[in-house]
Amino acid sequence: MHTVAVLSLKGGVGKTTVALGLASAALRRGSRALVADLDPQGNATATLNPPMTESTLTAVLDTPREAVIDRALAPSGWSPELDVFVSSEDLELLNEPGPDARRMDNLARALDVLRERPPAVDDRPYEIAILDCPPSLGRLTRSALLAADSALLVTEPTMYAVSGAERAFEAIESVRRGPNPRLRSAGVLVNRLRPRSYEHHYRVEELRETFGRAVMPTAIPDQLAIQQAQGACLPIHEWRSPGAHEISLTFNMVLAKILRSSRAGRHRILGGDPEQHAQPDSA
Ligand SMILES: Nc1ncnc2c1ncn2[C@@H]1O[C@H](COP(=O)(O)OP(=O)(O)OP(=O)(O)O)[C@@H](O)[C@H]1O
Ligand SMILES: [Mg+2]
Repeated sequence: MHTVAVLSLKGGVGKTTVALGLASAALRRGSRALVADLDPQGNATATLNPPMTESTLTAVLDTPREAVIDRALAPSGWSPELDVFVSSEDLELLNEPGPDARRMDNLARALDVLRERPPAVDDRPYEIAILDCPPSLGRLTRSALLAADSALLVTEPTMYAVSGAERAFEAIESVRRGPNPRLRSAGVLVNRLRPRSYEHHYRVEELRETFGRAVMPTAIPDQLAIQQAQGACLPIHEWRSPGAHEISLTFNMVLAKILRSSRAGRHRILGGDPEQHAQPDSA
């Protein structure tokens, strides 16, 4: 199971949209997937529309044991192949800085439990776990970085994008140097591109000059179809419009890139490559 954290420093740039787009692409390629909604706002949970659960991710982050995990996990309304770790408002309490560092690696523990337990009859193991982070580099995002194999940065093509992405890379790097040496950058994905905007293209160029090929070759355009599909609680791959089709292909590409680099990373680990680092993946 590959675990990818979807993050940004800013709110509202499209983390949840990208997490859901990747989940939709995973379903389309026939992969069993998990979305962990780490945002107390619960937007991913709302759009994935699972049945009511007895518990939530807040309890899992407190006690990452199998029985607790099972009560916080539900099949999404999209497909039985896509499960959700549901969010709740009280996750916010865990985001506040405090002396209690105990819970920080509990998400990683919970994912280890899921990775290691034998699948139930007819269940396949998860191929990918997608962590939808809240809009800050607080404790919840940090716990996602502790649990993740890779981190995908989402940004809008605006004036503050470069400095925001630089700070996010620094955060990834500091987690990689410290508690999670396997963490890699999955790159930078530009969202809400207006293809006719000179300003947007200028900002994308600026990102490319700074981060090179770590910037995904295709951006997600600003398209009403995204909001329509989310409002209808449907995967973008099932939304019938030319715009939705184009966006779906981009999410397929981003997911394939993430899974490919995960496999390459595994080979490097097996080969003992000491060069493995969290810098933008230019492969
Ligand atoms: N490419 C896009 N085209 C049109 N609308 C978009 C696009 N990306 C995101 N949106 C809309 O912008 C709003 C914010 O997106 P989203 O919730 O994905 O951002 P976020 O980074 O997860 O926000 P938060 O920081 O609050 O968690 C949503 O209403 C979403 O539907
Ligand atoms: Mg969000």
